[in-house]
Amino acid sequence: MVAINSIEQLEAYRRELAAAAKPDLPTVLVCFGTGCQANGSRLVAEAFMEAIKEQGLQVDVNIGIKTTGCHGYCENGPLVALRPQDILYLKVKPEDVPEIVEESIKGGRVVERLVYRDKVTEELVPRYSEIPFYKHQLRIALRNIGTIDPTDIDDYILAGGYAGLAKALTMKPEDIISEVERSGLRGRGGAGFPTGTKWRSCAAVDSDVRYVMCNGDEGDPGAFMDRSIMEGDPHAVIEGMIIGAYAVGSHQGYIYVRDEYPLAVRNLTLAIEAAREKGLLGENILGSGFSFDIRISRGGGAFVCGEPSALMRSVEGNVGEPRAKYIRSVERGLYNKPTVLNNVETWANVPEIILKGAEWYASMGTEGSKGTKVFSLVGKVNNTGLVEVPMGISIRELVENIGGGILGGKKFKAVQTGGPSGELHPGTPG
Ligand SMILES: Cc1cc2nc3c(=O)[nH]c(=O)nc-3n(C[C@H](O)[C@H](O)[C@H](O)COP(=O)(O)O)c2cc1C
Ligand code: FES
Repeated sequence: MVAINSIEQLEAYRRELAAAAKPDLPTVLVCFGTGCQANGSRLVAEAFMEAIKEQGLQVDVNIGIKTTGCHGYCENGPLVALRPQDILYLKVKPEDVPEIVEESIKGGRVVERLVYRDKVTEELVPRYSEIPFYKHQLRIALRNIGTIDPTDIDDYILAGGYAGLAKALTMKPEDIISEVERSGLRGRGGAGFPTGTKWRSCAAVDSDVRYVMCNGDEGDPGAFMDRSIMEGDPHAVIEGMIIGAYAVGSHQGYIYVRDEYPLAVRNLTLAIEAAREKGLLGENILGSGFSFDIRISRGGGAFVCGEPSALMRSVEGNVGEPRAKYIRSVERGLYNKPTVLNNVETWANVPEIILKGAEWYASMGTEGSKGTKVFSLVGKVNNTGLVEVPMGISIRELVENIGGGILGGKKFKAVQTGGPSGELHPGTPG
């Protein structure tokens, strides 16, 4: 893999990838998220390779095939999407595959028994983008998940990846912090602390060493938003961290991932290696003179290690115990140095904010909370899974439109928001 040494080279490389891409080639996207793999999607992918051979097709000539991260609709896995036809097949088994290749790839027809059927109206909805679960979402943090192969850096670059970083490197660090402040982005890890304010506090501390960190501990039972991003779009987190590091003047970052997330650890590791090989991590990133690298630190799964000071102690190799709250980690964090710790989803938003601007981001959401939020919609609704919606959306819209209403046409009674652990830690700068 050849390193990219300048912003111009990155853009030239992106143009090369676009010229070689075949957007009209019928392409099968098999979900390789943890949920679909548990439901047998590896066997489905193998069945595609066999069927392609048996039916006389050739990969990259008359059919494309790739594996993706979690589409969020895990209850219906294994999921198989077809692009550019915009078709989604649900609960696909290896024995369904020859028919998909025969009918959909060769014949251009839809295999109706595998498409979404509205549980209330019984109507068939073959088009991915028309399925109510997806139609009403606004995906920013999840922008690439389900469409790119998370283990292929070229796929991320082709989708516009690292353009936010390229733009950031032409800006003054101070201007990046102002942009993030004006965007109104608040931390997605629970406390909702304004991200730009946290970065400014850290940058203001006089120190020769600073750290940026990503909190991928995700201790809340049943939550899998951060896992899905780390597995399905690891470069979005890495790109966000490089931008944050440049803004606050840090040269070393850490991603703290719980060890029960082996696919997240694997995909992040592959992504960090690929970014290093491409010159997007390491010395003199894109010829800017700025150097930064990331290490992964695997947590043992203690809930308390999601708390910033316990997390930092754990990374240092100590017992993960919180310390007194009056010591702020933006002043004395990891190894007692000024540290910015942000959540996975917070970092994944950063490249888009820099690329598209603070006003674009601030145009979504509410007065006090901008942008979108990813969360798991679970319980007695017709469609459950991982969704991303604008801040301020009503619970009715969520339950009725995305969730497809209450199971069995029953009346809506109650909802619990927030994590089941019930943590409440408002406004702590982390
Ligand atoms: C006991 C405890 C557990 C926490 N667990 C997590 C976690 O698993 N993931 C996370 O992002 N934040 C967690 N937090 C919130 C973090 O303290 C911190 O606010 C957050 O990581 C900062 O990132 P943000 O500003 O981007 O949200 C936890 C806080 C407490 C007190
Ligand atoms: S793992 Fe495939 S949709 Fe979630």
